[in-house]
Amino acid sequence: MNLKIKNKNILTLDELDSKEIEHLLELGLEFKKQQKKGHEKPILQNKTLAMIFEKPSTRTRVSFEVGMLQLGGHAITLSADNLQMARGETISDTAKTLSRYVDVIMARVYDHDTLEEFSEHSSIPVINGLSDLYHPCQILADFMTIKEHKKNLKKIKIAWIGDGNNVCNSLILGCSKLKTQISVATPDGFEPSSVAVSTAKLHTDIEITNDPIKAVENADVVMTDTFVSIHNTDKNRLEKFLPKFTVTPNLMEQAKKDAIFLHCLPAKRDQEVSSVVIDGPQSVVWDEAENRLHVQKALLVSLLNV
Ligand code: CP
Ligand code: NVA
Repeated sequence: MNLKIKNKNILTLDELDSKEIEHLLELGLEFKKQQKKGHEKPILQNKTLAMIFEKPSTRTRVSFEVGMLQLGGHAITLSADNLQMARGETISDTAKTLSRYVDVIMARVYDHDTLEEFSEHSSIPVINGLSDLYHPCQILADFMTIKEHKKNLKKIKIAWIGDGNNVCNSLILGCSKLKTQISVATPDGFEPSSVAVSTAKLHTDIEITNDPIKAVENADVVMTDTFVSIHNTDKNRLEKFLPKFTVTPNLMEQAKKDAIFLHCLPAKRDQEVSSVVIDGPQSVVWDEAENRLHVQKALLVSLLNV
């Protein structure tokens, strides 16, 4: 069932072609089944993952660590503050050093360029565990969740409402690879990265609008994320989003009747989403959080080619 991923690093999601994405989703579903039955094999025995965090994390840290553990491997958590990088050791020297000890690196950083530089000097795979610009692992879990609930990712429409942020940038790259219809509604000035949009537009058409009602029209999936990401410092951001871009029951009613709601979490209830939506029957956010574990196992196994 294994397939070697052509690119060494996963930094944006653009590194994967549609066949590789489909394979990871299938493998993630298979790992989920195996884990529920208690049938997992220690296929990552003697493999070590180093995880570097410049920013806080709950899901990314725990799902990667537990994933390695469940497959017989090991994970080391490194806070960027406690590495010699904090005292001026270069990114390249750190990458070269870690490459001599561990088999794969996952890093959560502020500046996306840090990851680019890290992966340039690392001889082992580097996975983006979130940067200011992209969050590819989240979108793999989101696609796996959508596949579970909607079966065919190619025949659906996804609506992204709110901030054109890191999660949104990876989402549009992923949708372009799978040729999934996507409409993004953001306030003026909060559109997704122009690089991500132009890259995605090489493969497919993407609707970008300032009208959330237009975006959710006929949508099978409605997604949002916090309006204030970890790297955002502008205190007046929220007023640009509220109340127009909150995913309310009224907005959900404009989508298809059987539309599902996704949020990568952590959520600010009654800011980007009404409590009744995120805690209601259309929400699949707990499946989505769980699927980080399964699809990242698929990613690790495929990058390590075991
Ligand atoms: N969704 C996500 O990446 O969550 P954490 O910030 O808790 O890792
Ligand atoms: N956009 C959010 C995602 C958190 C998982 C952030 O960058 O803080």
